[in-house]
Amino acid sequence: MTSGFSSSRRASPIGVFDSGVGGLTVLRALRQRLPAEAMIYLGDTARVPYGPKSPGTIIAYAREATAYLLSQGIKLLVLACNTATVQALDVIRREWPDLPIVGVVEPGAEAAALASKSGRIAVIATEGTVAAGAYNRAILRRRDDAQVTARPAGLLVALAEEGWVDDDIARAVVHRYLDPILAEQPDCLVLGCTHYPLLADVIREVIGPDVALVDSSTTTAAAVAAELDRRHLSAIPGAGATRYLATDGPARFARLATSFLGEPISAEAIELVTLSEPPRPLILAARA
Ligand code: DGL
Repeated sequence: MTSGFSSSRRASPIGVFDSGVGGLTVLRALRQRLPAEAMIYLGDTARVPYGPKSPGTIIAYAREATAYLLSQGIKLLVLACNTATVQALDVIRREWPDLPIVGVVEPGAEAAALASKSGRIAVIATEGTVAAGAYNRAILRRRDDAQVTARPAGLLVALAEEGWVDDDIARAVVHRYLDPILAEQPDCLVLGCTHYPLLADVIREVIGPDVALVDSSTTTAAAVAAELDRRHLSAIPGAGATRYLATDGPARFARLATSFLGEPISAEAIELVTLSEPPRPLILAARA
């Protein structure tokens, strides 16, 4: 698939794609690290969660999102969704070879490999991410002494999307997922899902002060900065604007975005978009 992508577009925005609002944690880190860059955040709020869905479905959704963001003129794509990174990154890279793409798994694995002393690393993520074993492979590539335990913690996505991130319900659910993991005495816990950092305070309370808590937002932002630099695509100094796109529920999106980003965003500022499959060869079924 060709994108019509030109490598001279330094002023073009960075596209940041997630299944919902969780990727705002990555957006926040990107904006801190790269304040001059314009950004377009796309949350597929109509179809969240991606975690329990099959690889084929995630690939189709990620294709649609990529095609949409390219139609908005992005110069680089951040797959700010672990599940989409795990299932679709390779396909998207093959189909749009000219588009620089940064996923969140490799930067997260890098941070974990550096943070762990004992090599006992726990990962919590969506069902799809855990089943694909992507974190295990990415961490073991960096540290062959690592013992990686990856477990699904899918309900945390619903809590984050609901904004229930610091109450007794959140605390009980986090205990339910983490108590068995803590029994294995990891010294590092990777939040392998973009939504989980929203529950970081409760997670920290449950794991105590001695387990390193790793999320990929900061390291992803560093990877994006390096990629822009390498390709001579960094914006010229100035303040980059951010556009917010969602496939459903602008009012809810605005409410959550306001609290996650720490600045007011009005529902009117959220553009509602419809994603559809990029054109592909039509295969006509033979009629009997
Ligand atoms: N954004 C997804 C991820 O990081 C979590 C939410 C979902 O299941 O869609 O894996």
